[in-house]
Amino acid sequence: MFEIKPTSEMFTQKEAVILAIYEENKQQQPFYSQCNDALDGALDQYIQDGDVSNHYKAVSKVFTLNKIKTKRIYILGLGKKEKLTNQRLKSALGALFKQLQKDKITETSIVLDSFVTDEISAEVVAEVMAEAMVVAPFQFDTYQSGNNKPAIMLESITLLSDQASLPINHAIQKGRAMGYGVNTARQLVQIPGNLLTATDIAEYAKTMAVEYGFEVEFLNKQEMEQLGMGALLAVNQGSVEPPKMIVLKYQGREVWDDVTGLVGKGITFDTGGYSLKPKDGIVGMKGDMGGAAAVLGAMDVIGRLKPKQNVVAVIPSTDNMVSGSAFKPDDVITSMSGKTIEVLNTDAEGRLVLADAITYAKKQYQVSSIIDVATLTGGVVVALGDQVTGAMTNDETLYQAIESASKQAGEHIWQLPYNDLYQEQVRSSSIADLNNSPGRKAHAIMAGAFLAEFADDTSWVHLDIAGTSESEVSYDLGPKGPTGVMVRTLASYVLRK
Ligand code: BES
Ligand code: MN
Ligand code: ZN
Repeated sequence: MFEIKPTSEMFTQKEAVILAIYEENKQQQPFYSQCNDALDGALDQYIQDGDVSNHYKAVSKVFTLNKIKTKRIYILGLGKKEKLTNQRLKSALGALFKQLQKDKITETSIVLDSFVTDEISAEVVAEVMAEAMVVAPFQFDTYQSGNNKPAIMLESITLLSDQASLPINHAIQKGRAMGYGVNTARQLVQIPGNLLTATDIAEYAKTMAVEYGFEVEFLNKQEMEQLGMGALLAVNQGSVEPPKMIVLKYQGREVWDDVTGLVGKGITFDTGGYSLKPKDGIVGMKGDMGGAAAVLGAMDVIGRLKPKQNVVAVIPSTDNMVSGSAFKPDDVITSMSGKTIEVLNTDAEGRLVLADAITYAKKQYQVSSIIDVATLTGGVVVALGDQVTGAMTNDETLYQAIESASKQAGEHIWQLPYNDLYQEQVRSSSIADLNNSPGRKAHAIMAGAFLAEFADDTSWVHLDIAGTSESEVSYDLGPKGPTGVMVRTLASYVLRK
């Protein structure tokens, strides 16, 4: 799919060649000059007339009219050199790959060296490019009859570079792995609740385990009862679908120590239970397993790249339904940790299933840190919107590491406060140790504060993706719908730990 060749092969591709241009010194950009000369100065003319633009993210198509073997030259404007960051480059490449897909281009050469600047190396360009190529043109599988997926996708890319090819190859592998992990998460979130039950997620995890050699463990309802997972079981009580605690274990080092625990909320559909969601709020709740999907996506990346790290993924999964057997407001339940919980709102179910997952990760897998990802609260959407993931922590050092991974990944996170005052409120029940819904005030923080009771003295970062898990519009690096958010952050964190 990817090939690396010297830049002297610039015009040997038939369909298309892609060239990047910056705003400054276009004459000195050697590849630009070569193309311009091959077209008898036409590029200069087009730029002058405004038909080809070197502005950031401008994609221009130039036909070569048999002057050279290549039929078309795509020119990607990158704007001012010093303004370009890895993320801006990734977005520009996303826009380009979307255009190539529209134009039904299946093979192309890219002059990799035309992208390189003092700040951005050939390796970085290769990694970013490989990722953008996988995520940007991604399309969801649907259930429409006669939907012959627009199968026309870029299949073969020749990267033209005179730099050492081994590191470029590595960078490509990494970028592609990230991209596939993101798409895995996106697709999982898209699947409706009737077609993706807890058992189905377990099946999916198992397929992944076989492919990558992970160890896999599922707890069924009976085993949960024996372990005293009263919180997860309470949420499952109204369902006809059996719950699952899904575990994937990846041991990248000889000794099972310094273990990162990734915990993902896997509610396959959230009706709200007896604290029923209104009819508008319930639509879309098939996506309430976005945290589980992010964790599985990250494991997909880890399985492909095999870092020397120890990671365990723990996914508590069930739907949250209404029936004669369902749990109710006022119920008091006992979690696996032994802490009792007064249920004031059955719609605050995510923190309940995560509580038992966190306890299980600690007891059974000796995790030294926990990162949980969850579509946990509407409150975080109100606070931060749909582009920034809300974060909380009990360990600043771990948080710093996650934040820096998120920056590298190009995913925004923002820390919400956590302190004794919030702690008091989740402990405010008069009948149990904890209260699952202390009220409307700061409810995104309350959810995190509740989880902190179970992380206890284990280092923990909480990522609330209720706002970021889906996009209402299509964007440079993907279609409208599930975004696969946090796959890159989790994977980058593990890879560079
Ligand atoms: N799954 C929802 C949160 C959610 C809301 C995800 C919107 C995606 C989009 C969660 O289980 C929930 O219902 N949270 C409640 C908590 C409240 C009852 C304390 C909420 O945020 O309203
Ligand atoms: Mn809910
Ligand atoms: Zn939920």
